[in-house]
Amino acid sequence: MAFEKICTLDDVWEGEMERFHTTDGTGVLIVFPNGGEPIAFQDRCPHQQFDLATGKLENNVLTCRAHLWQFDATTGQGVNPADCRLAIYPTRVDGDDVFVDVAGIAPATSHT
Ligand code: FES
Repeated sequence: MAFEKICTLDDVWEGEMERFHTTDGTGVLIVFPNGGEPIAFQDRCPHQQFDLATGKLENNVLTCRAHLWQFDATTGQGVNPADCRLAIYPTRVDGDDVFVDVAGIAPATSHT
């Protein structure tokens, strides 16, 4: 597959996150960190696959609502615990449109 439009910059503002789906049904969490650019992450928590879009984004830290695992919203690296991370899909902004390419990237899982 290749890059496809997933949303626009009107759909996700700086400091927010929102879940979208690609045409093949892959869930993608678009996170727009403060001071950064939109990033596409897997939409499920690597812990027990809870919906990350229902979590909290604060000070560029994404917190899963289920058991409060935390991730750096600029890199996907686990903050607590640190030995996990979110998969990142290549993301491109062209004008107001946000494009992602999910081909060949599997969501990360971690210990339970
Ligand atoms: S499912 Fe996200 S912290 Fe457990």
